[in-house]
Amino acid sequence: MNTIEESWNVMAMAYEDFTENSDSYSYSIEWPCIQKMLPKIKGKSIIDLGCGTGRFTFLLENEKPDVITGIDLSQQMLDIARDKAQRNNSTAIFAKGDLNNLDLINMNKVDFIFSSTTFHYILDLDTLFYKLFNLLNEEGSCIITLMNPVYTAGYPIDKNGIFPSDEDWNIRYLDKSLRSYMQPWIEYNDTINNYLSSSYHHTFSDYFNAIIKAGFHILQVEEPAPPLEWKERFYNRYDSFIQTPSFLILKLVK
Ligand SMILES: C[S@@+](CC[C@H](N)C(=O)[O-])C[C@H]1O[C@@H](n2cnc3c(N)ncnc32)[C@H](O)[C@@H]1O
Repeated sequence: MNTIEESWNVMAMAYEDFTENSDSYSYSIEWPCIQKMLPKIKGKSIIDLGCGTGRFTFLLENEKPDVITGIDLSQQMLDIARDKAQRNNSTAIFAKGDLNNLDLINMNKVDFIFSSTTFHYILDLDTLFYKLFNLLNEEGSCIITLMNPVYTAGYPIDKNGIFPSDEDWNIRYLDKSLRSYMQPWIEYNDTINNYLSSSYHHTFSDYFNAIIKAGFHILQVEEPAPPLEWKERFYNRYDSFIQTPSFLILKLVK
């Protein structure tokens, strides 16, 4: 079985190609919603946890923070981010780190914590949100994009690395078993075939209880819909997103 780090190293370029499209979910659904929730971050210190190839790090950098740091487990994802930073004169700092054992408590506190579609790779949510609470300045805030639990509930249960069939993609909401499946960007990439990667499925109560236990206040909860114009242009994609939302976006303060 591939580890999460290995799989992101293998998938890095395929993920970048898939998501760098202006019609990608990241740009069409996630970012417009994040923009509406965004506090003033000009002159502030920001951390992007699970920054990947830096897509949101660079979008946030456009708001002119004082310092912005992206952290990710995968060297290949970071290499793409650093390459883009160099080409675009970005001053974002990219560092390798595992959110499972990063000493977030002894790092300098930050004003804004951002993370997109990373926390379903972390098993222990209680420890994660406890560390985030300690990392955040008193007046700070967080915006966290999660893969919607309705969506991750449909990921196939891991069968010791055996490739899942179409029937294995069905909702098992209260089943906390590891999930293994082929990511959508692999299907759009000619260089990687039938590649399985793994993640966890956390329920709404898993997330909200970990957040509340850590001491956060929840300011806003969003489940963004796809743009209406997709109904005309990409009906199937629009309809599948209406059936199963991909994102749950939270704004948290102390
Ligand atoms: C779906 S990608 C999201 C990347 C980026 N946030 C974006 O939205 O484009 C998930 C990212 O989480 C990273 N990741 C997974 N587990 C991690 C961990 N334990 N610590 C740090 N990063 C992790 C992966 O390497 C990958 O880059």
